[in-house]
This record gives sequence, structure tokens and C-alpha cells, in this order.
Amino acid sequence: MEQTLVIVKPDAVARGLIGEVIRRFEAEGLVVCGLRMVGLAQKEAEGFYQVHRHQPFFDSLTHFMTSGPCVAMVLEGEGAIRRVRTLMGATDPLKADEGTLRRSFAASIEKNVVHGSDSVESAALEIPYFFCRLGIFPVVGRGEIS
Ligand code: RTP
Ligand code: MG
Repeated sequence: MEQTLVIVKPDAVARGLIGEVIRRFEAEGLVVCGLRMVGLAQKEAEGFYQVHRHQPFFDSLTHFMTSGPCVAMVLEGEGAIRRVRTLMGATDPLKADEGTLRRSFAASIEKNVVHGSDSVESAALEIPYFFCRLGIFPVVGRGEIS
């Protein structure tokens, strides 16, 4: 069964949208199999979005991602990666389809509510960034695993 990493971004957490985001995924049959709230440090946000390090929006994006707590989760289901991306909608809410999370709730191309892995390769890197193999101990956080 395919797994994908989803993040409810700080804008959505601050606006009380954690439940609504999870509800939309669960309503489509995706199963939550890992869940944690995390306040990313700057370096952790930079590490997560390494692929965008040369983009002009990198500093702004990583500051946004550290501006408040996120909720990271692993969703599982057949075709989970593609299905999550479809439910999220396009990066820019103005281009997102009606009924998608970003069309419904995103304030801007940056403050766009939710992240979802974009490929099998990304999911394989992103899931262990937030969850260890057993899904119990945080692998990022502040390194306080004991
Ligand atoms: P994500 O990685 O968060 O799931 O979003 P995505 O695949 O739809 O978009 P991506 O191109 O990977 O960009 C990552 C995040 O960077 C912010 N962004 N800002 N100001 C801009 O032009 C811009 N472009 C992207 C968004 O928060 C986007 O989700
Ligand atoms: Mg992306």
C-alpha cells in the first residue's frame, strides 16, 4: 500500500483547519497511519525543502514553515501520493480546482495550507524526515530522542 507525507502548514494550523484537512483526506478513504505536531526549527525547514534551495522564494518559504506549529502525517492508500495531490489542488490557489483544499482555504501561493509528497522518491525521503521506521519516535524535532 502506498504511503505519502502530508503536512498541515502553519497557516492552516493557526486558522483551526487541522480537522478539516484530515477530514477531507479520510472522506476519500485515505488512512492516517502516523501523526504528530511539530514546530520546525529553521534548519529543519531548510532541510525539508532542500530541493527548492535555489528558488527565490526559499527564504520566505522556510520562514513561513517555522512561523508556528505544523501537523505532519503519513497517509496510506492505493495511489495515495497522486490522490493527496489531487485533493490539495495546484500550488497557487488561483489555479487550483474548485473543491480542493487550496482553492477552499489557501490565502496565497505560499500560505497554501498543505504539503503532500510529489513522487514515490520524495515520499521515501520525507516520511523518515518526520517519522522513524516504527512511527513512534520523532526523527527531527530537537534531537531529544532518548
Ligand atoms: P508542497 O511541496 O508544499 O506540497 O507544494 P507544491 O509541490 O505544490 O509546490 P512546490 O513547487 O514544491 O513549492 C513548495 C512550496 O513553496 C511555496 N511556494 N512559494 N512564492 C512562490 O512563488 C512560491 N512558490 C512555491 C508554497 O508554499 C509551495 O507549496
Ligand atoms: Mg512540492
